[in-house]
Amino acid sequence: MDRRKVLKGLGMGMASLPFISAKPASPGISEYHDLFKQDFTTEEKFWKKFRRDFYDVPKDFVNLENGYFGVQPLPVYKAYIQNIERVNVNSSRYLRTKYSSEIRTIVGDLSNFAGILPEEALITRNATEALNIAIQGLDWQQGDEVILSGQDYFSMIETFEMLEKQKGIKIKRIKTPVLPENDEEILACYEQAVTPKTKGILLTHMIHLTGQIMPVKKIADRLKPKGIEIIVDAAHSFAQIDFKLKELGADFVGVNLHKWFGNPLGVGLLYVNKNRVKDLNPLFGDSGEDENDIRKLGHFGTLAVPTVLTIPEALAFNETITIPAKEKRLRYLQNYWTTRAREIPRVKITTPSDPARSCAIASFKVDGMETKEVIAKLYDKAKVFTVIRYLEEDEVVRVTPSLYNLTSELDILLDGIKSIV
Ligand SMILES: Cc1ncc(COP(=O)(O)O)c(C=O)c1O
Repeated sequence: MDRRKVLKGLGMGMASLPFISAKPASPGISEYHDLFKQDFTTEEKFWKKFRRDFYDVPKDFVNLENGYFGVQPLPVYKAYIQNIERVNVNSSRYLRTKYSSEIRTIVGDLSNFAGILPEEALITRNATEALNIAIQGLDWQQGDEVILSGQDYFSMIETFEMLEKQKGIKIKRIKTPVLPENDEEILACYEQAVTPKTKGILLTHMIHLTGQIMPVKKIADRLKPKGIEIIVDAAHSFAQIDFKLKELGADFVGVNLHKWFGNPLGVGLLYVNKNRVKDLNPLFGDSGEDENDIRKLGHFGTLAVPTVLTIPEALAFNETITIPAKEKRLRYLQNYWTTRAREIPRVKITTPSDPARSCAIASFKVDGMETKEVIAKLYDKAKVFTVIRYLEEDEVVRVTPSLYNLTSELDILLDGIKSIV
């Protein structure tokens, strides 16, 4: 039966499907290729057009919670829908005859973008899975110590808590400064916690609670030579700020592709230095691959194939706008609202003011007001959507603009804050 008739019968005529009718076709991203050679960081007119061309944004609220996952730009979204159709129509024939060569190309291109070798890359379902493969893959023995900061991501902390119960490892929890004066202050927190039993350190490149960028490379350079495993959670920094995974100085790095990279939900990437693959035991059963082959770590079963197939489109989008230009604009947006909010009585920004220590993400609290009340009032009064985050014993409002946000929306946020404090 004709698919269109079936959909119509279900009240879902093709005309109502978003990828056909939501917008006139957006201009190709290639139109922007040369444009991004110029610096448009502060040009709202440019970003207004960029937003019109590439994003469907909510009309009834201002979304300043883009930290959970990234809204896909339209070319990516459309490619995703096409990939769903392609896989569905061609079914297992596609998977059995074409997928393996396509995935090799995708892994090659993605590795190139990330600054690693294809044999050091494993596509996972998210950052949590990537990091679990690395963390649980290491050979932890009873009494081994791991250093965690109270600002690391809770899922990773819970993985180590599980290993504490299962294997008798010891977690050393440290407090790292929310508003550091310098890198040495942060380094000292880790160095002081190291003992002869320290086997590993988890480092979060960009703290999800405050947006603080941690001096990961400096810590790795100082402590890895002592034989300590450095595992980096780069969930938020990847494709938000300009760096290559190897530059972090760690042998194990986990990221997701559905946050700042802008891929549809459900894809992550694990980097393992090629000389260290043999040191990881597979989390999922494997007996067939060579101990040096990273694919031994990836026996997940069937993946969300259309999602994985959309990586090239997200990659093309990132390469066109370029990560340095993206980083600059996102930092500009964050600085736009935080510098103004710092002047509002009772507002305390919990993100470092030094531009090198943060980018898109920032957070704040209001003295004398519960954070959940601030969030509710911001939505009720200004229709600005933000999220509460638990910063150790504190609670903060996290504000995360994306590339499609405009300074006029940050003015709405600022007016909203002023109206409730
Ligand atoms: C710092 C950090 N690490 C890891 C994760 C987990 O990412 P995912 O949900 O893709 O596994 C997140 C998610 O927000 C995060 O903020």
